[in-house]
Amino acid sequence: MSNKIIIAIDGTSSTGKSTIAKRLAIRLKYVYIDSGAMYRALTFYAIQKEYISKTHFESNKLINDIPNIYIDFKQNKETNKFEVHLNGVSVEKHIRSLSVSNLVSKIASIGKLRKPMVKIQHFLGSNKGVVMDGRDIGTVVFPNAELKFYLDASSELRAKRRFKELVDANHDISYNEVLNNIILRDKQDISRKNSPLRVASDSIVIKTDDISLDQLENKLFSYVTPLLSKK
Ligand code: DC
Repeated sequence: MSNKIIIAIDGTSSTGKSTIAKRLAIRLKYVYIDSGAMYRALTFYAIQKEYISKTHFESNKLINDIPNIYIDFKQNKETNKFEVHLNGVSVEKHIRSLSVSNLVSKIASIGKLRKPMVKIQHFLGSNKGVVMDGRDIGTVVFPNAELKFYLDASSELRAKRRFKELVDANHDISYNEVLNNIILRDKQDISRKNSPLRVASDSIVIKTDDISLDQLENKLFSYVTPLLSKK
């Protein structure tokens, strides 16, 4: 009998969710799914089609295109990393830009756009053995996930981490732009009507300010081990 479980990791942006989710997935030989990358890929598509900008958003055009938009994850043979693909092409390099970050919350607030993404997420988790991070994984996508974490940290610390990542990846950006984006996205993610960011009642809440990645990984893993041996 399979003893695989689903691990949901939600929380505010740039709290280290994806880094820690990847580490857990590697340790458990599970699949890691970055659900935010799906909303980012959709945003990248909408920007390219000029459906969305700072000043306008033609959500109906994007909704109408949904049957022709294929989003999935494929392994890059050179790096072995899973990358999000939009209509068969990896868009991983484009989806972390500030232009996508500034518009993604608008896209993610539309129920008719979330629904097809959740359908893909259900499919990806159907065999369990998945670590998925996002905003609504433990509340909406997998409310019966065996293990749920909610990560949070101060906005300043999150902006500092994110700023370093972006500068290391050669993005031309200021610390204040990153901080403002994080504050705005949190506000939009928490206050939206469809699947807002919430702490699930059975989630384990962890503050990541004063904890190293290794400590965080071990802490999360300490909750995983008893569940695997119980099954
Ligand atoms: O995790 P991230 O910062 O890459 O996610 C990008 C945006 O996508 C985030 O601002 C909110 C949205 N998102 C969401 O609404 N639901 C998810 N499950 C994951 C992300």
